[in-house]
Amino acid sequence: MNHTEIFDRLWKMYAEQNPSVQKIFDLFTNEGEDVKNDHIAFRTFNDPRVGIDVLAKPILKAGYVHKGDYDFAEKKLNAKHYEHATDADAPRIFISELRLEEFSQDLQKTAKAAIGNIPLDILASDELIFSGQVFGKPSFTTYQSLREESEYAAWLYVYGFCANHFTVSINSLKTMPEICLVNKFLKQNGFHINDSGGEVKGSSEELLEQSSIKAEIIAVDFVEGPHPIPGCYYEFAKRYVDTDGKLYSGFIAKSADKIFESTDFYEK
Ligand code: NI
Repeated sequence: MNHTEIFDRLWKMYAEQNPSVQKIFDLFTNEGEDVKNDHIAFRTFNDPRVGIDVLAKPILKAGYVHKGDYDFAEKKLNAKHYEHATDADAPRIFISELRLEEFSQDLQKTAKAAIGNIPLDILASDELIFSGQVFGKPSFTTYQSLREESEYAAWLYVYGFCANHFTVSINSLKTMPEICLVNKFLKQNGFHINDSGGEVKGSSEELLEQSSIKAEIIAVDFVEGPHPIPGCYYEFAKRYVDTDGKLYSGFIAKSADKIFESTDFYEK
C-alpha cells in the first residue's frame, strides 16, 4: 500500500463517520481551494501490542521516516511524528500513545482487556491503523468512568484505530492564508472552534499556529443503547519559515496539549 492509498482509505472512514468534516472540505473546495493536509493524527495506548511503533508499521513501509518525539506531561502521552522521505507534499503523520502505567489499576485493566479483544489476525497484519472500533462494542458506563481520568482514553476506547483528525494546511490556501480568516469562515458556516487556551494555539514566533473545530457529536451504539458523544475533528495549521529560511516542520507540545481537548465530552 502506498501512502496515497493509505490516506484515501483513512479519509473515507473519517468522512463517513463524521459528516461535518466532508462538509468543511467541500466548503473550501467551493471557494476554489485545493485542500492539502498538513498532518494526520492517530491515538493509541503504549501497550507493546498496539503502541506507536506497531501503528507506524504500514507508514514506514510506505516510505515515511521518524522525525520528532514529544512528551505531554499533563495528558500523560508520548508522541512521534513522521515525514515522507521523498514526497514533500505528503502530510506528516502524528501518533500519540497514552502512558498506561501512570493511571489507576482500573483504567489499566480496562485498556488491557480492550486490547485483548483485538483479533490476532488484525494484530499480525498492517490493518490495525484502519480497524476502527476493534475493541468490541463499547459500554457507556466504561466510557464515563474512563473520562474521569482521561478524555483521551475514553475517546480511544470507543473509536479505536482511525484518523483522529486530518489537518488542512493553511499554507496551501489561496483565499484564506491566515488562521483568523479560516476560523471566521468556519464560524460563519456554523462550526464551533475549540477555544481551550484560545481559538489560535501557537504563534508566528513559535513558527506554528493551529486551530480546530470541536469534534462533531455522533450517536454511538453502546451496549446500553445509543448515546451522543464527540467523534473526530478537523484541524487547521499554518507554518512559518525559521531563521534558516526553512519551513518549520515539527509540533509544539504546549499547543497540541490543548488541541487534544477537541474530543472532550460536551453536550450539543
Ligand atoms: Ni494535529
